[in-house]
Amino acid sequence: MGRRALRRIDPALDLTPWLLAEDALPMPVTAESLVGWAAPLEVEVGSGKGLFLAHATQAVPEHVFVGLEIAGRYARHAAAGLAAISSRNGRVVHGDGVRIFRERLAHASIEAVHVYFPDPWWKQRHRKRRVMQADFVRDVQRVLRPGGVLHFWTDVEEYFQATIALIGHHTQLRGPIPEPERASEHDMDYRTHFERRMRQHAVPVFRCRFERP
Ligand SMILES: C[S@@+](CC[C@H](N)C(=O)[O-])C[C@H]1O[C@@H](n2cnc3c(N)ncnc32)[C@H](O)[C@@H]1O
Repeated sequence: MGRRALRRIDPALDLTPWLLAEDALPMPVTAESLVGWAAPLEVEVGSGKGLFLAHATQAVPEHVFVGLEIAGRYARHAAAGLAAISSRNGRVVHGDGVRIFRERLAHASIEAVHVYFPDPWWKQRHRKRRVMQADFVRDVQRVLRPGGVLHFWTDVEEYFQATIALIGHHTQLRGPIPEPERASEHDMDYRTHFERRMRQHAVPVFRCRFERP
């Protein structure tokens, strides 16, 4: 399954304030420090082209959403999507989401964490590059407020099962709680670009969430 080329973004387009660099992030990261007003903060790790951010920011305008994306061209693409709708509650950070969780997010400060279709790193010797590692899931537990939620979706059943086991072993998060597939009445009824791609190719998707007690 090939990846579609990214739409070209005009290099002169000013993505301020939607695109931030990791080392320019406020410490700790809060909704107020990102957008100037207090609100529940939701974080997506690995935003890719930014479909989730574009939809979620409009569907839940009273929350602030920040996408963490390690690849500069995807971060710019996702930020351009927010710029196009003049989003007041969405931001993209170009940086390493795992490090940002470890170094920049405060205890019990986050409403929800979203991890959709993280890179599977198929080869055994590359598995240590996966986002879902013991230290990261411990950080997810640490930063979620009580009652906060981790959403985790993937098309890779082995990654799904391994992550459920990892979370069970290293955290007290409650789950997995299955998340249903949403009916897709039109082309944009998908949570992310990868969900759209998988479902259009009839690839099964594994979805669950965990809650912090
Ligand atoms: C397979 S894509 C999925 C993108 C999107 N979540 C979706 O479902 O369409 C995985 C994305 O995670 C990003 N990524 C990988 N490791 C990351 C990390 N440590 N921090 C932030 N982003 C990361 C990749 O650059 C890529 O854009």
